[in-house]
Amino acid sequence: MIKFQNVTKIYGGGQGQVKALDGVSLEVKKGEIYGVIGFSGAGKSSLIRCVNNLERPSAGKVIVDGHDLTGLTPKQIRSIKKGIGMVFQHFNLLNSKTVFANVAMPLKLLKVPKEQIKARVDELLDFVGLSDKAAAYPDQLSGGQKQRIGIARALATQPSILLCDEATSALDPQTTSSILQLLKRINKEYGITILIITHEMAVIREICDKVAVMEKGRMIEEGTVFEVFSSPKTETARNFVGTVIHDHIPAHVHELTEDRSGSHPIYKINFIGKSTGQPLISDISKRFGLDVNVLFGNITELQGTPFGNMIVEFRGTDTEIQKTLAYIREKEIKIKEVARHAG
Ligand SMILES: Nc1ncnc2c1ncn2[C@@H]1O[C@H](COP(=O)(O)OP(=O)(O)OP(=O)(O)O)[C@@H](O)[C@H]1O
Ligand SMILES: [Mg+2]
Repeated sequence: MIKFQNVTKIYGGGQGQVKALDGVSLEVKKGEIYGVIGFSGAGKSSLIRCVNNLERPSAGKVIVDGHDLTGLTPKQIRSIKKGIGMVFQHFNLLNSKTVFANVAMPLKLLKVPKEQIKARVDELLDFVGLSDKAAAYPDQLSGGQKQRIGIARALATQPSILLCDEATSALDPQTTSSILQLLKRINKEYGITILIITHEMAVIREICDKVAVMEKGRMIEEGTVFEVFSSPKTETARNFVGTVIHDHIPAHVHELTEDRSGSHPIYKINFIGKSTGQPLISDISKRFGLDVNVLFGNITELQGTPFGNMIVEFRGTDTEIQKTLAYIREKEIKIKEVARHAG
């Protein structure tokens, strides 16, 4: 659907030359919500702008719906661009025009008949929940409302691809969330493929199926959101994951796990895509008569799958503990002894 093949983008020339993209290859499949994350200057905007021809790659290919953009005539590109909507960080609305006129703009440019424009704009304003604002001006709207209008405008020509460049970066967390839910609805109800650029891992976590991590013009890591969050491979990805998943063990628990002299064993249990903590704990205490003391727990859900870890202390006879360990391992849940705790 969208394919980047070894895309390089160089701005300027001579001394002032900047390599914004350095051999990036990635593929966004039809119907996916694909996120690209990276720090400022990583090349994210350059990448997304190559999809709708706002930038042209210096080398490599960008293929949209089977068409290699680099080899098309301007007329062919215009026709492909009809199928691509774009949402911007700062909304890019025309302040001198009403909400209705802003959403109608792309259709007007395509010389769509007036009644059809009216029907389509009404439908879109209804979809984004702002039918009552048709006659208002952008200045009279909140940031979240402005972005809803930006999204309605991007959808006017019934695109099959929606590009979002930091679409929520100017919004507060709650408004961000409502915009992300709207994007999710667009993906589900209209089957639109969405490519999202962001520097916030929370955005990736909330709606993306897949994620690519960019650094200095290169794509350094890629995978499903679950893969990258549960086992990030690069330092940069680990840092991004750390901004939303706080799984460092508190100091007092850490101290306990360093004490190896005691008699009650302490274990670390990793839940990666397996059953969540609480049912397991009550299951094993009932089943094996163990006294389980949870010292620390951090279980979250990613794409509907539990993920996290727990530090537990088992109090029971050796036999009870051995049986419990065998039972847990049978469930393919990772558990390892980290310490013995006196008392
Ligand atoms: N039109 C341009 N002319 C020259 N250099 C540019 C141009 N656009 C971007 N750059 C440079 O290319 C590099 C990548 O920029 P880009 O805007 O793609 O990064 P980004 O990841 O989107 O950053 P941000 O998170 O700040 O938006 C930066 O070093 C930037 O200064
Ligand atoms: Mg950018």
